[in-house]
Amino acid sequence: MDLLRRPRRNRRNEPLRSLVRETSLSPAHLVMPCFVREGTNLSEPIASMPGCHRHSVDRLVEMAREWSSLGIPALALFPATPLAAKTADARAALDHDGLVPRAVRTLKDALPHLLVITDIALDPFTDHGHDGLMAADGRIENDSSVEILAAMALVHARAGADLVAPSDMMDGRVGAIREILDGAGFQDTGILAYTAKYASAFYGPFRDALDSAPKAGDKKTYQMDPANRREALLEADLDEAEGADILMVKPGLPYLDILRELRDRTALPLASYHVSGEFAMLKAASERGWIDYDRCLLESLLAFRRAGADFILTYGAADAARLLG
Ligand code: PBG
Repeated sequence: MDLLRRPRRNRRNEPLRSLVRETSLSPAHLVMPCFVREGTNLSEPIASMPGCHRHSVDRLVEMAREWSSLGIPALALFPATPLAAKTADARAALDHDGLVPRAVRTLKDALPHLLVITDIALDPFTDHGHDGLMAADGRIENDSSVEILAAMALVHARAGADLVAPSDMMDGRVGAIREILDGAGFQDTGILAYTAKYASAFYGPFRDALDSAPKAGDKKTYQMDPANRREALLEADLDEAEGADILMVKPGLPYLDILRELRDRTALPLASYHVSGEFAMLKAASERGWIDYDRCLLESLLAFRRAGADFILTYGAADAARLLG
């Protein structure tokens, strides 16, 4: 055979492959999502997310120190609210001494260089488990929810959050958060917007972890229809216009096409969330000896980068950082 082009020539050995490699992955591209609970010296394992725990604040600080030493620049905080604190009006979300503000203050005191991202949504705080407030007829109200979400973002900013991350999918929340933060002098607190967040079955283990599954109905009136691509572009345009600093796509691997679309459309940085169900699948298959967890994890994370993610939220952040280090 007389071939002019032999792409295999560039794959001959590792030094050559490394010269022509198009995408890189390092711990600097990873964010560790983590669960915080009340109490002290507690690390409660989460059955459907092997290796993940609900940590009390003191234990979380110890873990965060380790993650930071692995080169992970940020963590994303999710609270396990005690059942008794969940109400219809989600008032615990606005408590300056609530679990999240306390965790943020403690983390920022102990590890000032570790970025803390907080979740803005009401589902850990509502007795019905929805991300917004519920009207008498069961509808999830938009505008009254946005008001409380913006107030919640201010509580987190005052506690020292570096980025607030609205994951609720109410209309207009990014603009409302930007306005309240700026009005209170928090111009430097960033907004990581869950721009294209789909109504996904891959969130199952996360809802187990926080006992936050909706008691009735589903989240389809606010989270996006998995069938839709163009709608993600609309959401991206709105979030950008409302002042989002970073856009996010969620879930991760099943939605890489959406990530690529947004990469081609916006100059803003992009994040993607490798969600709980995706992580659980890797763990479960590897526990059965069917796949190699380490290699599948790194390959998945590299795929996010190739598709256009600047960084990735993944429960495998510490595992990956260790492997990459
Ligand atoms: C809540 C929220 C969810 C996740 C992040 N924030 C669950 C949901 O929307 O029901 C899911 C994350 C994961 O599955 O890892 N607003």
